Formats: sequence, structure tokens, C-alpha cells
Amino acid sequence: MSRSAHPAGPRHADVLPEGHYSAPPADLNALDAKVWAQTVGRDDDGVVTVGGLDVKTLAERFGTPAYFVDEADFRARARAWRSAFGADADVFYAGKAFLSRAVVRWLHEEGLNLDVCSGGELATALAGGMPAERIAFHGNNKSTEEITRAIESGVGRIVLDSFQEIVRVAHIAESLGRRQRVQIRVTVGVEAHTHEFIATAHEDQKFGVPLAGGQAAEAVRRALRLDGLELVGIHSHIGSQIFDMSGFEVAAHRVVGLLRDIRDEHGVELPEIDLGGGLGIAYTGDDDPREPHEIAKALGEIVSRECEAARLRTPRISVEPGRAIVGPTAFTLYEVGTIKPLDGLRTYVSVDGGMSDNIRTALYDAEYSVALASRASDAEPMLSRVVGKHCESGDIVVRDAFLPADLAPGDLIAVPATGAYCRSMASNYNHVLRPPVVAVSDGEARVIVRRETEEDLLRLDVG
Ligand code: LLP
Repeated sequence: MSRSAHPAGPRHADVLPEGHYSAPPADLNALDAKVWAQTVGRDDDGVVTVGGLDVKTLAERFGTPAYFVDEADFRARARAWRSAFGADADVFYAGKAFLSRAVVRWLHEEGLNLDVCSGGELATALAGGMPAERIAFHGNNKSTEEITRAIESGVGRIVLDSFQEIVRVAHIAESLGRRQRVQIRVTVGVEAHTHEFIATAHEDQKFGVPLAGGQAAEAVRRALRLDGLELVGIHSHIGSQIFDMSGFEVAAHRVVGLLRDIRDEHGVELPEIDLGGGLGIAYTGDDDPREPHEIAKALGEIVSRECEAARLRTPRISVEPGRAIVGPTAFTLYEVGTIKPLDGLRTYVSVDGGMSDNIRTALYDAEYSVALASRASDAEPMLSRVVGKHCESGDIVVRDAFLPADLAPGDLIAVPATGAYCRSMASNYNHVLRPPVVAVSDGEARVIVRRETEEDLLRLDVG
């Protein structure tokens, strides 16, 4: 069912019917490999383990709530994307999904590039040691200061998002004596989320320059005229948590159409095409994401076919997966607090975190699964709703799930597939402290983002 939930915008947040849970699973202790990180399993005592360490030990050491990232899994997924796309293409990890210096180092070591969309993400990328030429700078409203810093640090490309920005970036580059490599982000009139995509004449949203009405062609005309810019390609991003490749097909068709028009008008064949990110992951066992090699093959074929038809040299393709790399690699570990059975309805299981560490359920009606992690249980399944500790009834982490009926305060439960857009969208609502991110690998655990403290909160509050 999670495929009908819109992961990237509240305007679709009403699509899920009430009570959209499926039947209880045959085995409540089973850990579906689709949603759990690769090294996750249960030890002989039934305790969940990751990277060779059990969650009881991890909770004692690092506290709860906490996000645990399976480093080997992250690296394997990054490598799989890299090798699927090969030497003739580039994979830019989308830092918005989750970014820290350790992650930047892993990406660098695995040969990926990095997409950032704010000064803060750029600072983290550089501090983590990503070479500037492997960074792409995005955003629909980059500040003069951000643009200046991006150009000064030597980012490989800036993705231009508006007519104003074309002039602004050109001006800043020229004043710094630089010629900045840029792409223009176009709105192709395709919006894709999960299994549906909508292709319309134009899109009613803030990103990019519409292809419609010749606007993108005009943007290209202007960019080609400016000395401060080296226009290297066209960028398109059509949505997030997408399973269906047909939206990419329409996008590629339209982007290649623009490349053909540019060649016909200016005699220039732009060498790059970026098809953005958005590839979906499994949040529950019902989701069936594609493997990177299938995606690379499908995208490569689409672009080659379109270019052949337009008699263009096939440009270098790049993609920007965020969720598909980091999403499945982490789970959030919570301690169970109060448990409230509501007769005839469900049991409310409160945990020590909530919408401050995972806003996706409240914001997008996203679906998650959950498992009792500190032990196995033979008890009957109990229809549960996992809720947080915030002062808000919409503070739901897992809307509908089955947990064992003998669940008790003090048990640890884990929510898988929380690697993307959970820590990166975490807040301090109710002055709840943001959890740490702990990387686990080969029997070693290391904090990569530490837990926030009350001191951190009070440091910002200048009294
Ligand atoms: N490239 C661009 C230009 C993007 O805007 C995005 C995501 C990505 C790449 C990466 O998309 P991904 O592969 O991670 O789907 N907060 C929402 C998702 C927002 C995505 C925004 N842009 C969520 O939690 O579902």
C-alpha cells in the first residue's frame, strides 16, 4: 500500500484510506530482507543484530532513540550504483537524503559524486573531503553568498534553476574571473511518484525552467551568450520514490528533444544530461524496487534510443539517487514506553522519539514497518500504532503494524528503512533532542553524528 502514499508532498497526503494495514505476517519475528539493511539478522537469543552487534548492547552504549547505519550496506549500494552506470556516466548521491562527513568519505571512496542544495550541505561536503569538482550545486533560490562560495570552491557544476539565476551566476563567475560549468534544470511536464506519473503541458511547481512555451530554449539562448557560464547540459528531476520507469522515459524524450533543438538552433551538442534522482525503495514488504543495474540499463536504453532518433551523439548521463542509496541502510531503534490498548481499535505503543526523528509519516502519510528487536516472541499479533512522545495526535511513526501482544515497556523496537529523509528532516519540536547516527560495521560501532544535548539547545537560545 505504501506505493499509493505520496512521499514528497502534503497535497497528496489524503490518498490513503483509513485502516490500510494488511493481514498479520505469518512470523512476527521474521525480518524481511527487502526493508532491512543487509547485515541485519537475529542472534541465537532472538535479539536483532546489525554489523555483528546486537541492539541491546547498542542501546546501552548509545541510548535510544538512535539511527543505526549499516556501513557495509551503504557502501555496497553506492558501489552497485557506481558499477551499474559505469565509466561513461556519473552518480551524484543526493545529500539531502542524509549527509555527514563520514558519509561524504564513504561516497568519495566508492567513487560517487555529490549533489548539494544549500550552503550547509556544501560546507559538509567540502569538510568531508569531497573534491569540489565532483560536487553539483542545486537549489531554486541560491543566495549570492552560496553561489559565490560554490564558484570559489570550484564546484563541478551549478544547476541553474531560473532566468534570474542564469544572470546572477554568470555575473558572480565573471567577477571572480571564472567560467562556471552549469546545467539548466528544466521542467519537462512530468510528475512521477511511486507507480503513477502525470504528464501535463506544464507543471505547477517551483523548480526549473519549463520546457513549455519555449522558456527552456530561451534560457539556453541566454546562458550560451554569457561569458561567465559554460553550459554543459540539461537537468531534469521528476519526483521521488518512483518505481515506474515510464516517467523517466517521457522526461528523457523531452530533454533530448531540447538537445536536438539546441543543436539545430546553435550548432552545439550539449555533452551532458542529468535525469535526477527519485528511484524508490521498499518501506514495507509490498514494495518492489528495481535494482541499480536494471535502472541503469533502462535509462541508458531510453537516452540512446531518443538520441539515435534525433541523430545526436549520446550525451554523458548522470543520475542523483539519494533515498535509493541510504534509505534501506538504516533503522531507528526506540524504547517502548507506555502501551495503551484501545478496545476494538488498536494498541497505541509510545516510543521515546516520534515526529521529531521521523516526520515522514505525519507529513506524507508514509508507511513503515516495525519489529520487536530486543527479543523474539511467540505471542499473538497485536494491531498497533507506534506513536511518539510529542504533544500532537498526528505524532505517528508507524500507522498500522503488528507487534507481539506480550510487548512491554522497556522492550526495544526498530523501524527499518529510515536512512533517508529522517535524520535530515529531524526537528527539535517540543525541545526533543535529535538522535545520534551510529555507523556499524564488522563488529564496530561509531557515532557519526552525535546525540543533541540540552546544552546544544541552550547554546542557540541567547537569553
Ligand atoms: N535530485 C534532485 C534535484 C532532487 O530534488 C532530489 C530530491 C533528488 C535528486 C533525490 O531524490 P531521491 O533519490 O532521494 O528520491 N523529503 C521527501 C523527498 C524529497 C525529495 C526532494 N528532492 C521524502 O521524505 O520523501
